[in-house]
Amino acid sequence: MAAIPKLKEKQEGPLRNIVGCSPAIERIKELILHVADTDLNVVISGESGVGKEVVARALYACSHRQRGPFVKVNCAAIPGDLLESELFGYEKGAFTGAERAKPGKFELANGGVIFLDEIGDMPLSLQAKLLQVLQDQEFCRLGGQREIKVDVWVITATNHNLEKDVEEGTFRQDLFYRLSVIKIHIPPLRERKEDIPLLCDYFARIYGLKYGKSDFKFPDRLLGLFLKYHWPGNVRELENYVKRLVVLGDFEEVEREILRFSKVLGEEETTYSERDEFARRISLELARAEQGQVALKEVKKRVVALVEKNS
Ligand SMILES: Nc1ncnc2c1ncn2[C@@H]1O[C@H](COP(=O)(O)OP(=O)(O)OP(=O)(O)O)[C@@H](O)[C@H]1O
Ligand SMILES: [Mg+2]
Repeated sequence: MAAIPKLKEKQEGPLRNIVGCSPAIERIKELILHVADTDLNVVISGESGVGKEVVARALYACSHRQRGPFVKVNCAAIPGDLLESELFGYEKGAFTGAERAKPGKFELANGGVIFLDEIGDMPLSLQAKLLQVLQDQEFCRLGGQREIKVDVWVITATNHNLEKDVEEGTFRQDLFYRLSVIKIHIPPLRERKEDIPLLCDYFARIYGLKYGKSDFKFPDRLLGLFLKYHWPGNVRELENYVKRLVVLGDFEEVEREILRFSKVLGEEETTYSERDEFARRISLELARAEQGQVALKEVKKRVVALVEKNS
C-alpha cells in the first residue's frame, strides 16, 4: 500500500482514539485513510471487544461525512420485525400502534454514516430487503408508497465469520459481497501484545482524569502479567481492569484474578480455540462461586449447561 502523507497529521486528529503500535493496528490506520472518502462499503470483523466500533467511528471522523450524522443500529439487539421499521421507518397506520409516521435510521443517517453493528445477526428476510435497498439506493417506509433516496455510507461490523455463515446458509452471499468491498479485520489483543503497554497508559490517563486520580500510574509489576494474559474479552476487558485499578487500587486482587484465569490456559498460551474458551468459562464460574458472588447451586447448573453444550 502506498504511503499516505495524511497519516501523521491524522494520528493527532481522528485516529488518536485508536491506540496501538502493532503492525496490525498501523495497517488498519492506513487503510482507514485510504478508504475514508471513497464511500466503499466496509465490513469490520473481529472478536468481541477488539475495537470494531472504535474503527467505524474513526472511518467516519476521517471522512468528509463527519459533518453529517453517525447513526448506529445494533442488529442483534432489536427483534427482526422491529428491525425493519427501525431501519426504514413507517407511515401512519402501517401497523397497529403506528399512530404517526416515523423516519427510519437510513433516513436519519442521510449525508452521514449508518453503522450496522452485529450484521451477522440480521434475519435472512431482512437481509434480502437490505440488499435490494443497497442495489436500488432507494426504499419506501413501511406502509408507504413514496420512494426515498438517501446518501449514506454503509459500515458494518460483526464478530461472526461471515464467510462461514455464507457457507452455512445463514448469511446471503450476494449481500456479503455487496457489504464487504473493503474488509477490515481487527486481530484479538493476544495476537498484538505490543499494544498492551500503550493501552494501559492510555486508559490510566483517561480514567485517572475522570475519577480525580490524575497521578495514577499503571504499576510496572502488573504489566508483565498483563503481557502474558490471553485477554479473552480483548481491549474491553483490559479497559475494565485499568478502570477498576484506578478506582479501587486493588492490585493484589487483580493480580490473583488474572493468575487464576491464566493458569487454566497456560501462561504462554497465544493461540485461541473453542476449547480454551470452554476452560475459561468454567474457571470463571468456579471463581465466582469461590468469591461467593453466585450460589454454588447456580454455578453447578451453569457448569453442567456448559459441559452439555460442549459435549
Ligand atoms: N485500539 C483501541 N484504542 C483505544 N480504545 C480501544 C481500542 N480498541 C478498543 N477500545 C476500547 O475498548 C472498548 C471496546 O471497543 P469496541 O466497543 O469498539 O469493541 P467491539 O469490537 O465493537 O466490541 P463488541 O463486539 O462487543 O461490540 C471500548 O471502550 C473502546 O473505546
Ligand atoms: Mg461493538
